[in-house]
Amino acid sequence: MLEIFKRVISKRILKKIVLSKPVNKNIVKSVAKLISIKNELYLQIESFYTDGKAIQKNIKAQEAPDALTLMVGHEYKQMNIITTAGECQIKVSGKGKVTVLDRIKEKAEALEISGHDRKKQHILSATEPIDFLYELGVKDEKGRIFDKKRSKFKQINRFLELLSEAADFDKDKELYILDLCCGKSYLSFAVYYYFTELRGMKVVMDCVDLKADVIEYCSAVSEKLGYTGLNFIAGDINDFIPQRTPDLTVSLHACDIATDIVLAKAVKSGSEVILSTPCCHHEMMHQIKPSGSNCDFMLSHSILKQKFCDAATDSLRCLMLEACGYNVMALELIDPDETPKNVLIRANKNNKITEEQKNKKLAEYNAICSALGIDPYLKNIL
Ligand SMILES: C[S@@+](CC[C@H](N)C(=O)[O-])C[C@H]1O[C@@H](n2cnc3c(N)ncnc32)[C@H](O)[C@@H]1O
Repeated sequence: MLEIFKRVISKRILKKIVLSKPVNKNIVKSVAKLISIKNELYLQIESFYTDGKAIQKNIKAQEAPDALTLMVGHEYKQMNIITTAGECQIKVSGKGKVTVLDRIKEKAEALEISGHDRKKQHILSATEPIDFLYELGVKDEKGRIFDKKRSKFKQINRFLELLSEAADFDKDKELYILDLCCGKSYLSFAVYYYFTELRGMKVVMDCVDLKADVIEYCSAVSEKLGYTGLNFIAGDINDFIPQRTPDLTVSLHACDIATDIVLAKAVKSGSEVILSTPCCHHEMMHQIKPSGSNCDFMLSHSILKQKFCDAATDSLRCLMLEACGYNVMALELIDPDETPKNVLIRANKNNKITEEQKNKKLAEYNAICSALGIDPYLKNIL
């Protein structure tokens, strides 16, 4: 084993080592790869914990073969060493017997080792191959992101970061998740991957969209990847009946009042957590007629009227979710330069909110609606 580790590191042919079956049950798995810091070669080991955290440690390349050899059996019962010239698997049985299945060829091509990323580590690696991102055409087979997909990659990663802060689920629970208006479903795959691969949880996920051809494509990708709990359903989300109470409902850029249908569906089905990024807003622009003329100074400028209506629509959505018993935060999804559709509404069910508190929020909501002269769709369907 020591010789194998020495060879793949010194010849720089190591793509990554997946360290699995950890002895420490708080760890889901770890992934090791070579990086360069100030022109010096290191092995970086990133460990993913059951609570969603990821911790990295860097070991000098000369010390890494010994360190890895010591980990076999003591810290991990399995290691898969992936190189530019094939793979090697090291397995330790329950009785401590070590099996090494070495399929690394002699002739191997060295890798270019990238510099240490000092920026914030993202949930989805920007450099490693990830199966669903390859299938959906976001990354190539070496793990590089296609230029035209950078903004989608950032958006999905940020969504996962904001999700990870709110998704404090019991790790032994089988999660039931909805993605409503899933479209090409980058987000559905990412959420499924996050909980199953990175947090080691069991997930059943239903994703719904009107577009039958897109749904057919996503089902085929899901099947190819062996994402057995990830289901795609063609249809109107209005008609969709969840299998049971969802732990989580997500939605990215459901157009106009489709976001309201998503929120109503999530609330009515009792979803514990909701993350929704609204898309375009049209409804209020056509309705707004404030009582009195205090708002004329703003509403007479079309561009400012639209900005006001966008903000008021999302603020009212937050208030309505509070009236339905959720703690709510409005967050920025990514850099506003990337997209104007940038607000993420995050809601966690709070069973301690009293009926009196909910009624107060609803009264506040109704007072704002009558002051603005509007009758929101969300209010009517809830
Ligand atoms: C802007 S796309 C966003 C798709 C995807 N979430 C994403 O971010 O890539 C909006 C999607 O909502 C879907 N949609 C709109 N109204 C719907 C409804 N009532 N039921 C199901 N899907 C709907 C559309 O078919 C479209 O795919």
